Amino acid sequence: MARLIVNTDIRKGKINKNIYGHFSEHLGRCIYEGIWVGKDSPIPNTDGIRNDVVKALREIKIPVLRWPGGCFADEYHWMDGIGPYEQRPKMINTHWGGVVENNHFGTHEFFRLCELIGAEPYICGNVGSGTVREMQQWIEYITFDGESPMSSLRKANGREEPWKLTYFGVGNENWGCGGNMRAEYYADEYRRYATYIRNFGGNNVYKIACGPNSDDYHWTEVMMREVGTRMQGLSLHYYTVPGDWNNKGSSTEFDEMEWFTTMKKTLYMEELVTRHSTIMDRYDPDKKVGLIVDEWGTWYDVEPGTNPGFLYQQNTLRDALVAGVNLNIFNNHCDRVKMANIAQTVNVLQAVILTEGEKMLLTPTYHVFNMYKVHQDAELLPVSLECGEYCVGKETIPQVSASASVDAGGKIHISLCNLSHEDGVDIDCLLRGSTVSTVSGTLLTASAMNAHNTFEKPENVKPEAFDGASIKDGNLRVSMPPMSVVVLTLD
Ligand code: AHR
Repeated sequence: MARLIVNTDIRKGKINKNIYGHFSEHLGRCIYEGIWVGKDSPIPNTDGIRNDVVKALREIKIPVLRWPGGCFADEYHWMDGIGPYEQRPKMINTHWGGVVENNHFGTHEFFRLCELIGAEPYICGNVGSGTVREMQQWIEYITFDGESPMSSLRKANGREEPWKLTYFGVGNENWGCGGNMRAEYYADEYRRYATYIRNFGGNNVYKIACGPNSDDYHWTEVMMREVGTRMQGLSLHYYTVPGDWNNKGSSTEFDEMEWFTTMKKTLYMEELVTRHSTIMDRYDPDKKVGLIVDEWGTWYDVEPGTNPGFLYQQNTLRDALVAGVNLNIFNNHCDRVKMANIAQTVNVLQAVILTEGEKMLLTPTYHVFNMYKVHQDAELLPVSLECGEYCVGKETIPQVSASASVDAGGKIHISLCNLSHEDGVDIDCLLRGSTVSTVSGTLLTASAMNAHNTFEKPENVKPEAFDGASIKDGNLRVSMPPMSVVVLTLD
């Protein structure tokens, strides 16, 4: 029996809806095929963007979308992606399969996508191989409302009004693919580039600096010391890789030990967020700088027979648990984590959608985002959880992960993950400070660890109504099956 206390009379701040953000890069079939099919495609589209994908993404209320990379961002020259399609120069996507990029999906197409799905744009600029001037001009092109060379160019390309652009990344992984810089060098580069990111008209840019690679605490220390509140956000990248980088493991063929290791490595996000936040707290006790986890998710070996540079992988019930656990961690750290972006939206890494020609399917991860959307912009309720250990071999981790919030209408939502591949769990839940009388819920589970959706069976894994929760004498009792994600609504 596990015991959960939800302190409904304590509010710990808003869970920024941007924690439910996504990331889409010019990588494999994410942008091309997955999102952009072109205006002349037989696949139903709006201005070249797939209608089925737009509809699905609207449903999960994606608040913010990061683009164009990733590693691609630091070799992307935005001026190649504007103007008539036939005049746009081609380039080689050297990071991702060496394929030819025709630049048909550029700035105008990205803003149209954001408009269609109702997400705020988050653009990542080029520090590694770009110039300050190029970055400055991109901001001017997008946001300047007066008469200027860049705004005239935008108008000539068919867009009269400036767009609103809040989130801008000053480079990506500049410790690696974005220029192999040292923290000390990048900190100075950040200061230089960021100086020229201007706020035009009513637009106010929230500048996000390249942050650490997983446990590189030195990077965070240097950035906080040398840049501090000149940045509004500091990014963090951490992927759940069950094996090692040379042999990451299959997305669908794995045993119990690999399931367990995946859960354990996902829980490591808690330590990363806590330790980076501790460093940030020393320099920024008022928590003005947000921790922006703008790349997270599972990374496996690619599906057999697919291009190794395209990072195409299947998505099983295991990925659903990874998503649920990570989102609980971000919710519980919402005082510092202001945004997170799962990698990547369609057909790449832990995608919420997979496509094949005109076909589309929703992955188990998609369903978790749909179930958890109730937490967006809700007030975090602190929880304390006592649960048994989940053991495989000699290793142990906590069996349950949880977070809770109260929305603007006063409804309480609790999201729970049972990590064990074989044991159910009963949870006795005390809702301290409130009396609730009704509970309803949604459950995502399956009988096999590797259950997943295919184009032949797209609804093999899908949420169902949950009947394992009841309220007696004001107390909530929840009975969860193994390998499950549950979201409860209490009134
Ligand atoms: O998401 C795939 C890649 O992972 C990104 O391009 C890069 O930033 C990271 O290393």
